[in-house]
Amino acid sequence: MYKKIEEVKLLPLYTATDLTLLDRLEEILIKNEVRFIEVTFRSKLAAPAIKKLSASGELIVGAGTVRTLEEAKIAVENGAQFIVSPAVVPEVIEYCIQQELPVFPGTATPGDIQRATEYGIKVVKFFPADIYGGLKAIKALSGPFYDVKFLPTGGISQENFTDYLQNDSIIAVGGSFILSEDMFREDEGKPADENLRQLVSQIKN
Ligand code: 3PG
Repeated sequence: MYKKIEEVKLLPLYTATDLTLLDRLEEILIKNEVRFIEVTFRSKLAAPAIKKLSASGELIVGAGTVRTLEEAKIAVENGAQFIVSPAVVPEVIEYCIQQELPVFPGTATPGDIQRATEYGIKVVKFFPADIYGGLKAIKALSGPFYDVKFLPTGGISQENFTDYLQNDSIIAVGGSFILSEDMFREDEGKPADENLRQLVSQIKN
């Protein structure tokens, strides 16, 4: 899974508001070969959305904003294949290790990263990336944590994401900038997946 995410380089963050949009969403992700999505536990629809998006087996669906063991269990029961947390949450990490599931704990400081590595974790979320020093901070942290890879999220945008991706310690970038519900509305003359298509082509160029 880590290898695949490193190839795709984008982890779309999505908070479900309407389950009827999910078929369209899946279609757009497949069409653009971004077969990853992180569905956040920030809405009541997180569990059913994970279930629905996992059903076809075409996407690698993860759960985000997982702050409790209960949420992690619900996510896994509904088909989540990886877990993302905004912080280092021991009970979530221990559960994922036991389930042999990739887990990306949120880190921002050397202390956070150290705690994550003590569980054997080699890829951490760096959050909120823009507030905690962005690329400059990741470069500095990669000195002592030379064997850790980062998944920055928080304040990443269409304007700066390729700068992040040039750094070898960064496995992929995540965020809400990758998907927007506008994508589900076909504007006249503009394909619904235009934004995602552009991001993917920026990576390839
Ligand atoms: C996260 O949980 O990773 C962040 O809230 C994403 O931040 P963004 O909305 O700025 O991408």
